Amino acid sequence: MLKVGVVGCGAIGSIICRALDKDIEGAELVAIHEHHIENVDSLCAELSCKPKIMKISEMVRNVDLVVESAAAIAVPQAAIPALENDCDVMIMSVGALVDGQLLDNLINLALEHNCRIYLPSGAVAGIDGIKSASVAPIQSVTLTTTKPPRGLAGAPYVVSNNIDLDAFDRPKVIFDGSAIEAVKAFPANVNVAACISLAGIGVDKTRVKIVVDPDSDRNRHEIEVIGDFGRFTTEIENIPFPENPRTSYLAALSAVATLKKIASPLQIGT
Ligand SMILES: NC(=O)c1ccc[n+]([C@@H]2O[C@H](COP(=O)([O-])OP(=O)(O)OC[C@H]3O[C@@H](n4cnc5c(N)ncnc54)[C@H](O)[C@@H]3O)[C@@H](O)[C@H]2O)c1
Repeated sequence: MLKVGVVGCGAIGSIICRALDKDIEGAELVAIHEHHIENVDSLCAELSCKPKIMKISEMVRNVDLVVESAAAIAVPQAAIPALENDCDVMIMSVGALVDGQLLDNLINLALEHNCRIYLPSGAVAGIDGIKSASVAPIQSVTLTTTKPPRGLAGAPYVVSNNIDLDAFDRPKVIFDGSAIEAVKAFPANVNVAACISLAGIGVDKTRVKIVVDPDSDRNRHEIEVIGDFGRFTTEIENIPFPENPRTSYLAALSAVATLKKIASPLQIGT
C-alpha cells in the first residue's frame, strides 16, 4: 500500500484526500499538513481513513509519497525534505519550477535518492502529445489562453499597461510573448504555461497569447504544436471550482488521475 501525505488541503487537496479515502486502490492517505488547520476540521471528520495532522518533517518519515497542493512557496518546503527522506513527490504548484535552479535541485535530489517527481497535466489537455512530439524536433508550441475580463483583472501586465478590460466588445489578443514573459505578466497562468513548457521546448521558446473575450464565462486553453511529427491542436474549456474560482476542476481531477496511475500496474498514455 502506497502511503501518501498531502500538503495543502484547499480546493485541490480536499479532492485528493477524498479520492485517496475512497477511490484509489493501492494508496492510502496517512498524513495531512495544512497552514489553516481550522479549514480542514470538517474534511478530516468526513474521511474514514483518519489521517494524522503532521509537520512536514514528521510526514516525510511516515509516507512514501508527498503531494504538494498548497502554493508555490510550499514546493521547496515540502519537496526538498521529502526527497531527502526517500519519498516520491507530486507537485501541483508547477509554476514554482519556472525557477530552473529549484527544478535542477529537485531533480538532483531525486536522482541521489532514487525517487520520482510527478507533475500532473493540470488544467490542460495535450501534455501526452507534447511529450511524444518532443522526442523529435519541434518547431513551435503555442498556448492561447482566453479569459473573460474578470479573469484577467489585476494581472501585472493589465495594470502596468492601463488596459481597460471592459472596453472590448469582441475577443482581442492583449499579450503575445514567451512563456517566461507570460508568467511574470499573468502569474495566474503560471501553472499551465510552466507545465506545457517543461513537457516541450522550455519557457523561452514556448509562445503564449492571452486573449480577453467579453462574451465568455469560462477559461479556454488552446495548444498548437508543430513538429517533425506533423501538427496537433487541443482546446479545453474549464469549469472553475466553486471553492476557488482561480482553479479549474480538471486540475484536481488530473491530480487524482496521476495518483491512480502511480498506484496502478497499468500505465496508459505517454
Ligand atoms: N497544475 C495546475 O494546472 C494547477 C491548476 C490549479 C491550481 N494549481 C496550483 O495548485 C495549488 C493549490 O491550488 P488550490 O486551488 O487547491 O488552492 P487553495 O488556495 O484552494 O488551497 C491551498 C491550501 O494550501 C494551504 N497552504 C498554503 N500554503 C501552505 C503551506 N506552506 N503549508 C501548508 N499548507 C499551505 C492553504 O491554507 C490552503 O488551504 C496552488 O499553488 C495552485 O496555483 C495548479
